[in-house]
Amino acid sequence: MPRLNVVTREGAETQVEGTTGHSVMEIIRDNGFDELLALCGGCCSCATCHVHVDPDYIGKLPKMSADEDDLLDSSEHRSEYSRLSCQIPFGPELDGLRVRIAPED
Ligand code: FES
Repeated sequence: MPRLNVVTREGAETQVEGTTGHSVMEIIRDNGFDELLALCGGCCSCATCHVHVDPDYIGKLPKMSADEDDLLDSSEHRSEYSRLSCQIPFGPELDGLRVRIAPED
C-alpha cells in the first residue's frame, strides 16, 4: 500500500499506510490523528482538514477547485502549500506524500 507521512502540529512525524481511493483526510482521520477535525466529513465546506503539503509533492496534486480556494482564503495559516486534505484523492502516484496538519484557525 502507498505510504503517507503525517506531521502533527507539534512536529511529530508518523508514516501510515493509505488506501487507494480514500482521501488524504480520511487516511489521517482513520489513523487516529484527532487534531484534524474534518468537521464536514469531506464536503469541502469547513476547512478544518487544512494541511501544508511538502513542496516536493505540491505539483503532483490535482488542481484546486474554486470552492477549495475560497475556503482556504478563510484561513490565517494559508500558504502556497496549503490544501484541504479531503480534496486530495490518495493513491500509488502519491506514495511517500508528506503533509503537516495546519495550525488551528
Ligand atoms: S473535511 Fe471539511 S473541508 Fe475538508
